[in-house]
Amino acid sequence: MSYNLLKGKRGIIFGALDENSIAWKTAKLAHEEGATFVLTNAPVAMRMGEINKLAEETGSEIIPADATSVEDLENLVNKSVEILGGKLDFVLHSIGMSVNVRKGKHYTDQNYAWTEKGWDVSAVSFHKVMQTLHKNDAMNEWGSIVALTYMAAQRTFPDYNDMADNKAYLESIARSFGYFFGKDKKVRVNTISQSPTPTTAGSGVKGFEGFLSYAEKMSPLGNATAQDCAEYTVTLFSDYTKKVTMQNLFHDGGFSNTGVSQEVIEKF
Ligand code: NAI
Repeated sequence: MSYNLLKGKRGIIFGALDENSIAWKTAKLAHEEGATFVLTNAPVAMRMGEINKLAEETGSEIIPADATSVEDLENLVNKSVEILGGKLDFVLHSIGMSVNVRKGKHYTDQNYAWTEKGWDVSAVSFHKVMQTLHKNDAMNEWGSIVALTYMAAQRTFPDYNDMADNKAYLESIARSFGYFFGKDKKVRVNTISQSPTPTTAGSGVKGFEGFLSYAEKMSPLGNATAQDCAEYTVTLFSDYTKKVTMQNLFHDGGFSNTGVSQEVIEKF
């Protein structure tokens, strides 16, 4: 069922890799809710070709951009405004990657070149996206920018490795840029702290299956799925959340405020 929540709104959606991606589900729902948008991903991710299917289904154009390259982002933002026929109302940053995680490097034995790459892709890219939007005056007033994060930014999950630090950095950028974007352009900036979700990025975390089941049993409402996350994100892009900004919003079925659940106690 569609509510036309995003009727006439224009945006950019980063990070739809395949149909499990949170960004993929968000793109499909944003389309159903009446939005038009440009899809983007890193040129290497495009080689898999999956994104073409999503572009067809949503009537979108694709513009490749490495989110760590300001040059690519300039091109993306300017072309998007041109293609969509006006300034933007929403942007989704759904990007994360740690080379240390990928290569199985322990948190206490990091390769710092990989650490830097990880924070550039996962955190600083969010600053670069917003700085490009801000400098080019590409957002409409009361627009909304969302990035996705995880609770390892606040509490320790040992296997989340340096992504925990990257997420803390990302959330801080949302608050800091949110101030200026709010003051200068009346644009809101938030992060959604999502439950563990079976996607390519999620499954890369060591012991992910156990992690997923534990969170499921600890959350009174159960884990939030990728589809649930798409639905929440669309509300943040809609006009019904205009004064929500500089927040880290937990979307996790209650996990973050649960000390222990009956199901978990019974395991002991
Ligand atoms: P995904 O693997 O489908 O999406 C990650 C995306 O980042 C991919 O599309 C990938 O191509 C893109 N990316 C990587 N490097 C890039 C670069 N240099 N430039 C542009 N794009 C680049 O996985 P998922 O889970 O949908 O991830 C989306 C976001 O949600 C990430 O920020 C992730 O950390 C976050 N998140 C995921 C959770 C999970 O358990 N899956 C839980 C909480 C947050």
